[in-house]
Amino acid sequence: MKAITVEPKKQGTARLMEVQEPNIHEGSILVEAVAVGVCGTDVEIVEGKYGWAPAGQPHLVLGHESLGRVIDPGPTGGFKKGDLVVGIVRRPDPVPCPNCAVGEWDMCSNGQYTERGIKEIHGYMSERWRIEPEYAIKVDASLGLLGVLLEPATVVAKALEQVVFIGRRSYWEPKSILITGAGPIGLLAALFAKMYGLDVHVLDRMESGSKPDLVRALGATYHSGSVLDIGFHPDSVIECTGVGQVIGESIQQLGANGILCLAGIGHGGSVKTMSVADVAASAVLKNNVIFGSVNANKRHWYKASQWLARADRNWLSKLITRIETPDNFMQALQRKPDDIKVVIQFSAI
Ligand code: BGC
Repeated sequence: MKAITVEPKKQGTARLMEVQEPNIHEGSILVEAVAVGVCGTDVEIVEGKYGWAPAGQPHLVLGHESLGRVIDPGPTGGFKKGDLVVGIVRRPDPVPCPNCAVGEWDMCSNGQYTERGIKEIHGYMSERWRIEPEYAIKVDASLGLLGVLLEPATVVAKALEQVVFIGRRSYWEPKSILITGAGPIGLLAALFAKMYGLDVHVLDRMESGSKPDLVRALGATYHSGSVLDIGFHPDSVIECTGVGQVIGESIQQLGANGILCLAGIGHGGSVKTMSVADVAASAVLKNNVIFGSVNANKRHWYKASQWLARADRNWLSKLITRIETPDNFMQALQRKPDDIKVVIQFSAI
């Protein structure tokens, strides 16, 4: 069968190649790939900056934002032929650490976790893949191709849950939320925060096009420019850009007792006219919490699948701005200005 592979940490090694059929040891459910979403992590792996192949193998099958159709449900697990499923990304470390031991692998404390398509286990960019029943999530059939949005939705479900948990440290009734960055994570965060009943604001550098339209269609407010100019002090911020300037301004703009979740991963860059000590002092004087959030455990996968099933299909469909074939995977990995979520489609839905 065909798979999109890479030799991790070696730039220019990504290719569509013949690989062996998935091994039964990878899970009792056999799945036909329908589509795989592409995200910044995939781009980094292809650029040779991130990623690990399985032990003793030269290549890694890419892809962690999956959607597939069950071909053979295997002997257990309550799945049937034809079910749409998405595979969980992370597996607990083998020790296991206390977090992994209780199923909170997203909070793994020794770093020995593995991740499909990212860290030491093959991903989902192959014509067929296998999955363990306990790591397969059934997707509402009416979502169709939109089920490929489940993985990024789980990252959002975890981030929002953590904000709510942290908020319990004091009397705190959040009314407003600012989301910085209107990519797939930011827009899904806006959707879920709206479903949660918050006054939602989204800031992005794009001044026109589908991003502002999508935000306004939710009944949320769109901003471009500096966070310092949004005109209010948000109770919480979900930071999805990973850009130093936006992070610093978000901390300065955050309201009293406010919580800022860092969900974007950036590198390098410099910050204009901002002192780390001044930014920190503003956080101290407002009792702010600034925390990072990555990955998701089964609780978040469940919540995200429920929220996605309730979301407006027409709005969700506008998040998928480009569909490429596996042969064109390199184009899928190249970002265009209007891209929100680019998907590689392996088979018809
Ligand atoms: C994935 C997460 C993963 C993280 C770090 C993200 O793109 O969505 O599941 O934990 O990369 O590898």
